[in-house]
Amino acid sequence: MYILGIDTSCDDTSCAVLEDKVLRSNVVIDQNEVHARFGGIVPEMAARMHTEAISLCVEKAMAEAGVSQIDMVGVTVGPGLMPSLLVGVCFAKGFCYGRGIPIVPVNHIEAHINAIFLEHDVEYPFLALVVSGGHTHLYLVLGEKNYRLLGKTLDDAAGEAFDKVSRLLGFSFPGGPVIDRLSKTGSATFLDIPRALEKEETLNFSFSGVKTAVKKYVEKLGKLSKTNVANIAASFQESVVDVIVKRLFKAADITGARRMVIGGGVACNSRLREVLYNACSKKKIEVYFPSPALCMDNGAMVAMVAYKNRDESTFNYSSIDAEPHLDL
Ligand code: KG4
Ligand code: ZN
Repeated sequence: MYILGIDTSCDDTSCAVLEDKVLRSNVVIDQNEVHARFGGIVPEMAARMHTEAISLCVEKAMAEAGVSQIDMVGVTVGPGLMPSLLVGVCFAKGFCYGRGIPIVPVNHIEAHINAIFLEHDVEYPFLALVVSGGHTHLYLVLGEKNYRLLGKTLDDAAGEAFDKVSRLLGFSFPGGPVIDRLSKTGSATFLDIPRALEKEETLNFSFSGVKTAVKKYVEKLGKLSKTNVANIAASFQESVVDVIVKRLFKAADITGARRMVIGGGVACNSRLREVLYNACSKKKIEVYFPSPALCMDNGAMVAMVAYKNRDESTFNYSSIDAEPHLDL
């Protein structure tokens, strides 16, 4: 069975073809250059660019997979930006109607969690952390479609904090890769950044204070030297990584889970990977990160969920709609 996965939830137009569970192609047309000019994503512009890119993205994904026939489409219906989601959903409905094939509505967070199954067969139960530009959600995954929310951010998402701090330091969007690179030459102990909710009995997160601490320090300094920038980036990154790792181990203690799956754009972070791999190896906990391309928004993870949820496929196209605040 050939499944086309489509994701237009945010600022990347992403399409992929899966042959059952095997990835045949994965195409992403990003919009970074345009949004970088505004320092962040402009939803209206994102939607317009999705509209221009989506046909080409699907054609490329099918050509790279070497297929002309698709048997089923999975499309992200939410959560995400309404204007962006609408483009993918409307395109998918038209595509399916024209070809007389069924459609599966896919939750974007569920897709990030299941991206790992494109590369590994992870046994249940496991902890799943989705850390992206829009989400910081921690789940206990007990089995197929059995997700228990343990905690989430009370304010900014982890990726959002990376993007905001990058901007404060004078760099462009997206900020995560910039901070990751700058941190390699900086001192992680240069700035003492507060770890929010550390002493509380919670599995929630809070990242807005981190950004404020950096903002205050940057304003105090006035002019930033290259060394200062690297030191601030490294201290900020270390505080985020530290909070994430501590929260994951607290969740492992509470639930008894011995496996962890990390997903979303922030899962590309090299320091997070290094610290978590080391800590998990000491505690004999298995930790899984998808390859970087499958951490970022992509159509492959959407197709994977469509394959797993194929019993939910429908020809009733009008029952499918964009749901920007969809829960898992
Ligand atoms: O999953 P994703 O592609 O889109 C959303 O669903 O939001 O994640 C994008 C986020 C951005 O905030 C970006 O700055 C962050 O992932 N990101 C990173 C890294 N690469 C991307 N954050 C930290 N370190 C990275 N290397
Ligand atoms: Zn995402």
